[in-house]
Amino acid sequence: MYKKLLEEKLLQLKQEGHYRYFLEVNKSVQHFPHFYYTNVQGEQRAAVNWCSNDYLCMSTHEAVIGKLSHTTYKSGTGSGGTRNISGTTIYHRELEATLSAWHGKEAALLFNGAYQANVTTLQTLARNINDLVFFSDQENHASIIEGMRGCKNKKFVFRHNDMAHLRDCLQSVPYHQPKIIVFESVYSMSGSIAPVQEIVQLAAEFNAMTYVDEVHAVGLYGKNGAGIFEREQLQEKIDILNGTLSKAIGVFGGYITASKTIIDFVRSFGNGFIFTTSLPPAICSAARKSIELIQAGDRQVLPQKVEQLRTALRQAGVEYRENPSHITIVPVPGAEHCRSVASRLLLEQGVYLQPINFPTVPRGEECLRIIITGRHQLKHIHHLAHSLKKIIHGDHQADRQGIQALAFADGAGETEN
Ligand SMILES: Cc1ncc(COP(=O)(O)O)c(C=O)c1O
Repeated sequence: MYKKLLEEKLLQLKQEGHYRYFLEVNKSVQHFPHFYYTNVQGEQRAAVNWCSNDYLCMSTHEAVIGKLSHTTYKSGTGSGGTRNISGTTIYHRELEATLSAWHGKEAALLFNGAYQANVTTLQTLARNINDLVFFSDQENHASIIEGMRGCKNKKFVFRHNDMAHLRDCLQSVPYHQPKIIVFESVYSMSGSIAPVQEIVQLAAEFNAMTYVDEVHAVGLYGKNGAGIFEREQLQEKIDILNGTLSKAIGVFGGYITASKTIIDFVRSFGNGFIFTTSLPPAICSAARKSIELIQAGDRQVLPQKVEQLRTALRQAGVEYRENPSHITIVPVPGAEHCRSVASRLLLEQGVYLQPINFPTVPRGEECLRIIITGRHQLKHIHHLAHSLKKIIHGDHQADRQGIQALAFADGAGETEN
């Protein structure tokens, strides 16, 4: 009976076109952004990954891999315990110190992912401050929505980046009632950037706390790569900042940084922090190494690559949505159409772009989300632009140009960095 119930749900998901099929993206340190997959005929194929969030390719950095290996040999693989029960090491402490200093905060707290950090922190605040009111941007990530869900606290959802609407919402709650404005700095599915200066001003005016998810900004923006709040010199104005160790940092895990009191509060009351095994020590030391390298790195490479990519798209006549971030969105409306374009790009052109469909974006706003990394070269960019032109606009001239721009079997062996 239960099997049937579950199967019915799965069938429904498939009929709605929301069922997720995973592609095996067999990554290679040497050949990134090329990867290997096996097609339905059982043949091994190479393609270029255009949707990895390993923005700075730190997951393939020799020194980060070296640190991970070295600490694993010294400390073993897993931590073997929750933070409270034998799962805290010098590597956890050192990483938390690095993170709090990076973000200009008093303290930091590690989680096994930014998803868990968002859910646990927001839930912990909601459960312990009964009359806390949430003000949440309409485009906030699923983990933020999950963190606010299931609690009795009142929620206002303000229109994306609409400060007049946020002001209206804030005005409707008494000044002394606890409030928290929850938003992202770089929005992952539209590439828009929050008006952070205005948000912190509104927070001050209406006596609200502020919570930002900088998952797609850490490592990329600001003098030391700490994110948009560093770039805008507003680090001291944000109450709680959430980040990931799994995207630009290229390792694994998540965290929050805040005042000592807030961190102690989440550490002491947050079930999603307390009742789970801590990160492996080697992950912590590798993440710290990666952050040190990022802090010392050149922040100009990625914006230049983004500009090269957008120039190539314009020249090829491929439409994309303008935004001020590193995330390039090519609209391909219609779930089936978007899926079919992505599938043809992979099978015919060796271009891997995951179609972004409802519920991740609203219906009708289906798109391809292009992520360029430090290791995509001009030849990859031109091949992508020509491939998109061919598949989206059915331009066969572009096909020949695209094939000239990048020969796959050979390209997969290159190691330029
Ligand atoms: C905006 C945002 N917040 C949080 C997360 C979760 O991060 P993590 O992968 O570290 O759990 C993601 C995505 O993966 C995200 O896009």
